[in-house]
Amino acid sequence: MPEPRADYECWLPDEAATLALGAALAEALPREVKPAALIELEGDLGAGKTTLVRGLLRKLGSEEAVKSPTYTLVEPHVISGLNLYHFDFYRFSQPEEFLDAGLDEYFAQAGWCLVEWPARARPYLPACDWRIELAIAGSGRRAHLEATSERGRAWLTRLSIAATSSPPA
Ligand SMILES: Nc1ncnc2c1ncn2[C@@H]1O[C@H](COP(=O)(O)OP(=O)(O)OP(=O)(O)O)[C@@H](O)[C@H]1O
Ligand SMILES: [Mg+2]
Repeated sequence: MPEPRADYECWLPDEAATLALGAALAEALPREVKPAALIELEGDLGAGKTTLVRGLLRKLGSEEAVKSPTYTLVEPHVISGLNLYHFDFYRFSQPEEFLDAGLDEYFAQAGWCLVEWPARARPYLPACDWRIELAIAGSGRRAHLEATSERGRAWLTRLSIAATSSPPA
């Protein structure tokens, strides 16, 4: 049997495309998952990580304004019984701050954990399921999603997103 596809790449010409990718991710992820699905969001300042989370939350039906967790470290959302924890470790000067803040407890619960700047909490983060890298490319963004766990690969087979155009050459 062929191995399931382990990664996915697309071009996001504008903010609406990043929101649409977030919505597609929300459809592919299982609603009941424990320990929490861990999705790492890599990319420079302004790459679109928070925008992607906003797309997920909107798809789940959230109408609240999505705040960036840059100052609070975590913004918890509960929508129709699903816990979505949105983290941002940009301000960590050392990874031990993750433990000091008691954040490890979130990852053992049921739900989805989406993490901006995950490298700043290494080596304390549990095993990642999806690693998503966003890169600024001209006026748009390039996205690369890699499934990094067995369950993450299974979820990826459910990902369906409208074909996006290619970046201008
Ligand atoms: N595909 C896209 N094309 C163009 N602009 C985009 C795209 N996706 C998001 N943006 C815009 O990029 C800007 C920064 O987005 P966002 O705040 O999501 O970045 P971030 O990666 O979370 O940054 P930070 O590391 O500072 O938290 C926003 O103005 C957003 O509208
Ligand atoms: Mg952000």
